[in-house]
Amino acid sequence: MRFMSEHHDFLRSVEAFLKNHSWTPTRFGREMAGDPQFIFDLRGGREPRSDTRKRISSLMSEYSDKGVLPVLRVGIAGLGTVGASLVGMLHKSGPELQRKYGRRIEIVAVSARSRSRDRGVSISEFEWHDDPVALAKNPEVDLFVELVGGEDGPALASVQAALNAVKPVVTANKALLAKHGVDLARLAEKTGAHIGFEAAVAGGIPVIKTLREGLGTASVTRVYGIMNGTCNYILTRMGEEDISFADCLKDAQALGYAEADPAFDVEGFDTAHKLALLACLCFQTEIAADEIFVEGITAITQADIKVAADLGYKIKLPGIAQRSAGGVEQRVHPTLVPRSSAISRVDNVLNAVTLETDHIQELMLSGPGAGGPATAASVLADILDIARGHNVPPLGMPTDELAPYKRAPMQAHKGGYYIRLNVRDVPGALAAITTRVGESGISLESVIQRPDLKVASVNLSDGETRTLVLITQDTMESSVREALDQIADDGYTVGAPQVIRIESF
Ligand SMILES: NC(=O)c1ccc[n+]([C@@H]2O[C@H](COP(=O)([O-])OP(=O)(O)OC[C@H]3O[C@@H](n4cnc5c(N)ncnc54)[C@H](OP(=O)(O)O)[C@@H]3O)[C@@H](O)[C@H]2O)c1
Repeated sequence: MRFMSEHHDFLRSVEAFLKNHSWTPTRFGREMAGDPQFIFDLRGGREPRSDTRKRISSLMSEYSDKGVLPVLRVGIAGLGTVGASLVGMLHKSGPELQRKYGRRIEIVAVSARSRSRDRGVSISEFEWHDDPVALAKNPEVDLFVELVGGEDGPALASVQAALNAVKPVVTANKALLAKHGVDLARLAEKTGAHIGFEAAVAGGIPVIKTLREGLGTASVTRVYGIMNGTCNYILTRMGEEDISFADCLKDAQALGYAEADPAFDVEGFDTAHKLALLACLCFQTEIAADEIFVEGITAITQADIKVAADLGYKIKLPGIAQRSAGGVEQRVHPTLVPRSSAISRVDNVLNAVTLETDHIQELMLSGPGAGGPATAASVLADILDIARGHNVPPLGMPTDELAPYKRAPMQAHKGGYYIRLNVRDVPGALAAITTRVGESGISLESVIQRPDLKVASVNLSDGETRTLVLITQDTMESSVREALDQIADDGYTVGAPQVIRIESF
């Protein structure tokens, strides 16, 4: 009985040491007991000999008496935009961080593809690894930072290797988490390691911490945000100047706001990845990036921007997730937002996320959503949390408690619609169109004829057309689709209709 209680007290003191010093069990086992498995066996009920217990207890008090936390040894895989900024930040702020947090944070090893590339920061003092997996497994590394990018490949393999070695991980990689987030969180739970991913959603905005820790019992009813700077820059410029999507995109590329291959951004998938992570944290469901309704901004024209402006709206590309009767709705699509709404003032490369909750009502966080310094600041915030021994479930709650994702069908979405049609300039066309709309049970708020607005993509060999815009009252997506199918069959329109949803933010 006496031994049982001694064993229990010893186990408790070891757990307290781990927590206070932010050591992984493996590091403790290796450095204090000479056996990386020591704590796992201890937790499993294996009792150490009494002299081993005494030796370890006295080593623990020696450490604690020194009153300083041990150095947190960081390994960084990926030294591009974000990784190089992080190295620079830690070089510059290291001493201040130590003063403030009572713990030295030291980069000990790095990995990238090219060892010789000039990154604007010195890396010669760090151990070099060609392979991020080898870096993750390096026994000198306590915390692994993944800034390589990509949903599989070395990013996935290295994060798995770090978690398997019971090392905490910090990553900015939304693509990786959108695809493997639940599995990685499960692995982290199993080993007791932590995953920080503040930088993966809306760059420098601390929305993950807010959702995981800042809301108390408030529950989110709807989350929406502008989370892609490239799209927001293009839509803002199109709203301010009379230029086409293609010209704006070229400028965005020249300014470094858009990638050489911009499809991932402008087709909406980058926003979708971030939305999937937010929806998981807001609604406690598994991450379901593949279930998101996604439309990009490539088809937005000056005609749409101008008519929207006349009606008191701007066009934005928000990601929106909300609970509805059928499940959880996740959507990324161009949206008409009232000019009076806060989100309409989030312009250029700024990002913003709004949480609508039952207790706190509306909470909007806005700031820089990308760029080396802003993103690295979020990575560093996660590193500091880990340095202080702060550990919360990666997805806000144990993965076993997450509900399977249930997709609310897009056909059941209800809201206002902006529908732009190129209508043949023939008698009876307008009457036929409004009749079809009425037959589908749609009430119109306004019908706007804009003969002055020509849409460049319309082929003039189809004859003269006029631009007609219908604004509906709240209606079902299925009704809109039914009406548009019938209108197309009647043959009064040319080309595909432009459908933009209206949201009452
Ligand atoms: N940039 C942003 O504003 C931003 C914002 C939020 C989140 N993020 C996320 O942060 C992560 C990093 O983004 P980034 O913009 O910094 O990317 P980046 O500039 O392209 O840098 C990627 C880095 O990874 C290295 N790398 C690529 N493949 C590798 C491999 N097989 N083995 C070892 N190293 C490899 C590259 O090495 P070399 O330098 O030698 O080629 C480079 O240093 C991504 O997940 C991204 O989605 C970025």
